[in-house]
Amino acid sequence: MTSLTIAIPGPVNLRDALKRPELHAAFGHRDSAAHELYQRISQRLLTIAGTTRDEYDCLLINGSGTNAMEACVRSLIRDDGSSTFLTVGAFGELFAKIAQGCDKANHGLVQFEAGTAIDLTTLAQDEQVARAEILVFTHNESSTGVTNDLAVICAWAAQQGKQVIVDGVSLFAGAPVNLSQTKPLAYITATQKCLGLPAGLSIVFLRKDVARQVIEQVPNRGYTTDLKRYLTAAGKHEVLTTPNCSLWNQLDAQLDYITQIEGIENRFARHQQLQAQVLAWITQQGLSLYPALADASPSVSAIRVPADFDLAGLKQRMREQGYLMDVGYAGLNQELIQKYQYKTFRIPHMADMTAEGLDAFLRELEQQMAN
Ligand SMILES: Cc1ncc(COP(=O)(O)O)c(C=O)c1O
Repeated sequence: MTSLTIAIPGPVNLRDALKRPELHAAFGHRDSAAHELYQRISQRLLTIAGTTRDEYDCLLINGSGTNAMEACVRSLIRDDGSSTFLTVGAFGELFAKIAQGCDKANHGLVQFEAGTAIDLTTLAQDEQVARAEILVFTHNESSTGVTNDLAVICAWAAQQGKQVIVDGVSLFAGAPVNLSQTKPLAYITATQKCLGLPAGLSIVFLRKDVARQVIEQVPNRGYTTDLKRYLTAAGKHEVLTTPNCSLWNQLDAQLDYITQIEGIENRFARHQQLQAQVLAWITQQGLSLYPALADASPSVSAIRVPADFDLAGLKQRMREQGYLMDVGYAGLNQELIQKYQYKTFRIPHMADMTAEGLDAFLRELEQQMAN
């Protein structure tokens, strides 16, 4: 396969330093060297998450983000409808579908209009929300480029005595999550978005003071989806099943880079600067952002184009120039075309993208849009 510069919202391009052959060395995952590796990795992930070992366990689960979402559904959500899923797009709906697939009957579902964020007024008035012990939502909805306000929603849920499970797959390591303050029951992420690595490993931060109690109330948690087993393994600095050694080595190297070379705050700031660069380009091109600016994501922007705009043709021309671009989330675009006669495409600004790299992509896109 010819290699293209990836410009879709995950997976992402890897820094050259992550392609070094020595990162593919195998190790024994029950060996003491792997225990040290686990501790180093989890310690720095907790730091990026703005928390400590005293407050959260950091669990590493083989497979991409969806696997961790399923583990949280199987291990934290009872069958009896005690949870409500809040969706603002396709990935919120994915979470609810996973629950249906796991036979978690009668849970609540509150769907917000695509392109908008969760709002507290609606939450405060909704009966399914009122009944729920656990609220489940997406931090950064990659299909629409909308970020929900983690701090505000978690603070509101805490006031109401509700726990929160958050899918942070497309934002973690690109923006602060401050788990020490926001305190969700579980915060989920994966390697292939803002962390800037290949897909294949998901991460669950689990609140120490309540998670075990919640897990004990849930029967039939499966095996590879049983968070209790991961907690037991993590207590020995181990994982449940054989990990991908190359990805763990790459993660170790990338966490060194993020925490010691780039700096965590600088990484967050760079994501914001890249977003600003895309927003300025959108304005220059006379285009408009799909969500309201206040809800716009620091890792991916969704942009409106007319329903008849030839995105497939543009994608082909960009491919000929060496880029793989995004043509919008298919299900969302179908709905938008039907309702409003426009659709979207997305520009990612995440992981280790540089201002220069983004500028080169935007210049090419501009030229190919004019063709
Ligand atoms: C917000 C969000 N949640 C969940 C997922 C699913 O994660 P994965 O593809 O890693 O299984 C994605 C993937 O794009 C995502 O963007």
